[in-house]
Amino acid sequence: MDGELALNTFSRWLHVGTAIVLLGGVVFLRFVVLPAAERLTSEASEVLCDHVRATWKLFVHAGVALLLVSGLYNYLAVLAPLHKGDGLYHSLMGTKILVALAVFFLVEALVGRAAAFEGLRQKSKMWLGIVILLGALIVAISGFLKMRVG
Ligand code: HEM
Repeated sequence: MDGELALNTFSRWLHVGTAIVLLGGVVFLRFVVLPAAERLTSEASEVLCDHVRATWKLFVHAGVALLLVSGLYNYLAVLAPLHKGDGLYHSLMGTKILVALAVFFLVEALVGRAAAFEGLRQKSKMWLGIVILLGALIVAISGFLKMRVG
């Protein structure tokens, strides 16, 4: 196996693996952690959510950075040259990147402390649900781009 193939495979592995961890974590938060927290007293729930957020935000920061770096490398260095002149490919990839930026904003705002996004954090359950739907759309677009021929 030559070096370029090894690097491209590593970058794809990193991208898909990070997407699994990030989206899986959001599903776990929305459907397991938040319902469990709601069964506690409000003080206990707040302590649990603070501890969860303090650790989860490290995954979010690293995940966003890794998805951006591996995704940009996969697109600009590996796939864009192979899809020269393929308008559908690039417009769907552009759409995917815009939706991914919206997801990055939401997950960062949800783990952050900025007062401007406190309203968003008050409705964490709803916004995590929206992140899951947008994430599913991103994975669908990505899978389509991988599978379509021509
Ligand atoms: C929430 C953010 C993201 C998620 C969940 C995600 C998920 C995925 C998944 C699952 C694949 C593999 C699809 C398959 O092989 O079936 C993929 C491929 C890809 N992603 Fe992402 N991605 C995200 C963000 C990004 C960003 C920000 C970029 C670029 C800046 C990007 C660029 C790419 C490229 C170029 C491919 C390969 C597409 C192809 O095979 O033609 N991704 N992504």
